[in-house]
Amino acid sequence: MKALVVANWKMHPATHREAKALFEASRKIIEKAKSVSLVIAPPALYLRDMIQSYKGKRITFALQNAHPEASGAYTGEVSIAQGKDAKVGAVIIGHAERRAMGETNDDVRRKVAAALSLKITPILCIGETTRDASGQHFNYVKEQLKIALLDVPPQKIPQILVAYEPVWAIGASRAMEPRDMHEMAIFIRKTIVEMIGKEGMNVRMLYGGSVDEGNAPMMLRDGAVNGFLVGRASVESDKFAALIHSLAHA
Ligand code: PGA
Repeated sequence: MKALVVANWKMHPATHREAKALFEASRKIIEKAKSVSLVIAPPALYLRDMIQSYKGKRITFALQNAHPEASGAYTGEVSIAQGKDAKVGAVIIGHAERRAMGETNDDVRRKVAAALSLKITPILCIGETTRDASGQHFNYVKEQLKIALLDVPPQKIPQILVAYEPVWAIGASRAMEPRDMHEMAIFIRKTIVEMIGKEGMNVRMLYGGSVDEGNAPMMLRDGAVNGFLVGRASVESDKFAALIHSLAHA
């Protein structure tokens, strides 16, 4: 089965030297796994050098977050347009860790629209913080989706990657069960179809939250997802090798 892996390095590693070594290890791992596509999202400071030194075609690059305006008085921000100029292909939008720092659904909406207008793939992160038997989490996810996709014309839906990451499974000890992901994938598709019509069926989906070599193959088989958004298992090369190997043989 084909799989897409987005390696979200977050604020790792601490030095450029280590980043180069991790990139080199990841490159070797992915060369041997033809059925797996890799997107690497390193800290923005490492991006340009990494993109310029990479001559292959198996890896594309993403920003972990970016500002929708092309330029302006926004201290500390990097814009999607600057990412495009550095030749990134995608941008992670609305990650739970950004939302925890104050990013709103409306910010996410503006970023998704800006990325699409620049032909950069939005990796739109959604997911509830908690869930219980009441099913409230479905409403929470629906609200996130509805606002994020408000400015997206139906024909652009296939350009988006929706990364469903239940916040309680991020950085946790266990991932979500594939059957629960399957249920959520159906719900996400249904919500998008209700919003924009049948083009919504074509949306691509990722699962994120404690992905590793133990849970990923089953999730790929039974979770109705196209791939994964991976944190911890992407920044240690032996763990990453095990994950990619497990997917290449799934
Ligand atoms: P994790 O992080 O794989 O370390 O749980 C996932 C994410 O935050 O995207």
